Amino acid sequence: MRIVDLEIEDIAFGGKGVARDQGKAVFVPYTIEGELVSAEIVREKKQFAEAELVEVKQSSPDRVEPLCPYFGRCGGCAYQHISYEHQLAIKWRQVRDALQRIGKLKDVPLRPIIPSPKQYAYRNRITVHAQEGVIGFFRRDSHQLIDIEQCPISTDEVNRALTELRAQPYVRDGDYTLRASASSRVFSQTNDEVADALRGLVVNLVPPKQELLIDAYCGAGFFAKALLDKFERVIGIDWDKFAIAAAKQNATDKETYIASDVEEELASVSRNDGFLAVEGETRRLGSRHSLTLIVDPPATGLSADVRKTIVDLAPATLIYVSCNPPTFARDLRELQERFALESVTPLDMFPQTAEIEVAASLRVVPAS
Ligand SMILES: C[S@@+](CC[C@H](N)C(=O)[O-])C[C@H]1O[C@@H](n2cnc3c(N)ncnc32)[C@H](O)[C@@H]1O
Repeated sequence: MRIVDLEIEDIAFGGKGVARDQGKAVFVPYTIEGELVSAEIVREKKQFAEAELVEVKQSSPDRVEPLCPYFGRCGGCAYQHISYEHQLAIKWRQVRDALQRIGKLKDVPLRPIIPSPKQYAYRNRITVHAQEGVIGFFRRDSHQLIDIEQCPISTDEVNRALTELRAQPYVRDGDYTLRASASSRVFSQTNDEVADALRGLVVNLVPPKQELLIDAYCGAGFFAKALLDKFERVIGIDWDKFAIAAAKQNATDKETYIASDVEEELASVSRNDGFLAVEGETRRLGSRHSLTLIVDPPATGLSADVRKTIVDLAPATLIYVSCNPPTFARDLRELQERFALESVTPLDMFPQTAEIEVAASLRVVPAS
C-alpha cells in the first residue's frame, strides 16, 4: 500500500494519532500531535484510513523512550512513547472533547486530572492468554498471541506470578488472571493508589448526614463501605454473586447487598415509589428526595432503560464513575434533562494505556 507524509493533528480516543490525507482522516498509532511522520496506509475505508508508522521525521518534544520491549506490538499500552505529563494532558483534553462533542455540554465543569503516583509497576492484576505453549497478550488489533515474559506496567507480585505460570511444565490453553494478592475472584480496581484517590474523591463528593445510598454496580462494596459514616442506610446492587458474598462478609446492620440486575432493581424502586424487595421482604427505602445514587457501570455505560429509570427516579445526588468517557458522555446527554452536572474529575488509573477513568457529581434539578 501507499506511503504518505503526514502531520499529526490530534490523538483520538483509543490512542491513535489523527492526520489528514487529501481531506480524509488517517489514524496512525504511536505518534504525537505536532509530529511530521511518514506512514504506510494499511486499510482504506470510505471515511477514514488506518496507517502504520514508518518514520518520525520531526518528533515532538514530548516523545520519550518506551520502557517495554513489547511496546509497539502488544495491544496493552498505547502511550509509552509519550512523556507522562503529556499523557495526562491528552487524557484531560479527550474527556473535555467527549463531553462537548458527544455530551453536547457547553460549559464543562472539568477538574484537573488526578495522576497516578506510579507510572509503571501499578497493575495489581492482568489476564494472560495461553495457546499452544505461548503465554502472553494479544498483538495490537489482532488475535495473534505475543509471548510475554514480563509486563512493566504490572507490579512485581504480578510479574512473579507470570514467571511462575511460565515455569510450569504444561500450561493448558485458556485465560489466566494473575493477581498481586491471591485474595478475591471478584472485580477490583486495577491501580491501588489511584483507586484510593477515586474512593476519597467519591466520599468528598457526598455531603455528610445523608439518609440512603444506593451503590449500583457495587462489586464488593468498594464505594458503599467507604461511605458508611455518611448514611443511615446503604444498599449495594451487583449481579456478580461472588462480589455480593464478599460485600456481605463484613457487613454492618446498615448495609444490604443484593445479587441482582441493576436495571430490574432500580426500575422496581422507581415503580414502587421507594419500596424494594430485598430477600423476599419488601422494605421502604425512604424518599427519593434524600436518595444518593452511585453508578459505576462497565465500559458499555448505562442501558437506555437504566438512563430512563434514573431520570424518573430523580435521586437528589447522582455520582457517576466511568471507565469509558464516550459512553459516559452519551449517558450525560440524557441525564442532563433532570440533573445539573457539578463536576467531572478524570483520573489516570491506567498510565501508558489509552484508558481513562472519570468521576462526576450531578445534582437533581426541579422537573420542567
Ligand atoms: C466497573 S465494575 C465496578 C465495581 C465496583 N463499583 C468497584 O469499584 O469495585 C462494574 C460492576 O458492574 C457489575 N454489573 C455489570 N452489569 C450489571 C448489571 N446489569 N446489573 C448488576 N451488576 C452489573 C459487574 O459485575 C461489576 O462488578
